[in-house]
Amino acid sequence: MTQPFEDLFAFLRFPSVSTDSRHADDVRACADWLLAKLADLGLATELHETPKHPVVVARNTHLPDRRTVLIYGHYDVQPVDPLHLWTSDPFQPEIRDGRIWARGATDNKGQMLAHVLGVEQTLRENGELPVNLIFLFEGEEEIGSPNLAAFLHQQRDALRCDVVAVSDTGMVAPGVPTLGYGLRGILCCDAILRGPKCDLHSGLFGGAVANPAAAAARLLASLHFTDGRVAIDGFYNSVRPLEDWERQMWSEVPGVSDADFLQVTGSPSLFGEPGYSSAERVWARPTAEVNGIGGGYQGEGSKTVLPAEAFIKLSFRLVPDQSPLDIMQQVTRHLVSHCPPGVTVEVRPGHDGKPYLTDPNSKFGLAAQAALRTAFHAEPVLIREGGSVPIVQTFREILGADTLLLGLALADAQIHAPNENFPVENFEAGIRLNQALLNELAR
Ligand code: BES
Ligand code: ZN
Repeated sequence: MTQPFEDLFAFLRFPSVSTDSRHADDVRACADWLLAKLADLGLATELHETPKHPVVVARNTHLPDRRTVLIYGHYDVQPVDPLHLWTSDPFQPEIRDGRIWARGATDNKGQMLAHVLGVEQTLRENGELPVNLIFLFEGEEEIGSPNLAAFLHQQRDALRCDVVAVSDTGMVAPGVPTLGYGLRGILCCDAILRGPKCDLHSGLFGGAVANPAAAAARLLASLHFTDGRVAIDGFYNSVRPLEDWERQMWSEVPGVSDADFLQVTGSPSLFGEPGYSSAERVWARPTAEVNGIGGGYQGEGSKTVLPAEAFIKLSFRLVPDQSPLDIMQQVTRHLVSHCPPGVTVEVRPGHDGKPYLTDPNSKFGLAAQAALRTAFHAEPVLIREGGSVPIVQTFREILGADTLLLGLALADAQIHAPNENFPVENFEAGIRLNQALLNELAR
């Protein structure tokens, strides 16, 4: 195996699952490995403690009169369960059918390491980089980056840059270079519905008191109209409408037709807000999603119980100019006012992040397009993203820099799911892309 793959495999073997405290040592060991790799390249490295997982920073020697580029990524990964659905061990990477299979292969270790190895390659070829470079890698992206904004504030001067580059988003189809110019924001929350003081025999008490699980179902049903629109009062008030040029441009993007969405998801049919294509619904319209629902008996067979409580877990994807804070107020008001009689509801806000939108044809956007063209020998497409990388808008607010989203994640990469994978060709293209990008940004 060649060195880039040795490096990637070593990186992927760390089970750096940020949400699981049993993996805290693995997250740290992964950060230490990364730090050593960056130091090996001759970069000045720093490991910064946070209340949870460390931030890794590395930079070359900065010279005046050169652009400063900050490359961000995350070395933490999502949990692997359900483990039995993986064809191979999520933390013993394998190459099969031209793809690297492991948790984090695409999201985000493969994509971020490509930048590191691109820098290594350029240093080997030229002895120096064309720009002032800052690598900023965190271990908490998958849990909503709870400590990164404070870190940016604290390190504001040291992290000052002209532009940010991130490879942690999607690529519409194999071989089609993709520049993202928008991200949806996110708001997560939980609610607990409580009824009787303890679980009750459903024969002795059913009919006399409300059932929290049934109430949870009613409450969830109240979130949408039957046609798919979100039914929360005011939810769409500050949504910026799609531009005609975007709709026109997106209708020609390969790999994201309604038929493609059907095929990739395996759903029996598509469903969503009327009047929009699947790509438009995902990239530019806000949603309310049920991520989890629970309560009552979950075991084998039946158990005649009226559960004392039930829970729901929700997330909302937000678009410009929705504000997570405003939406949280609307959601709370909605859940409280739609709570069925006979139960109480306690709403607990979770993490959030603002949406992001920039101009794909800005000076730096054009440089990114040129780099994508060089790395892939094809014309780039311009899209927004349905996923969220909440720190991107924070970069703009704290560092004053816009972000180039150079995504290498394919729709079937199975990120956050069993059998996550990253095509070997995307890894190699990512290395070339980093080299081309720094050259273009230096101009
Ligand atoms: N890399 C993803 C986001 C992504 C993937 C954007 C593909 C566009 C295309 C990132 O690691 C992620 O999963 N983000 C979370 C954010 C949340 C945990 C705050 C998300 O979008 O759910
Ligand atoms: Zn992720």
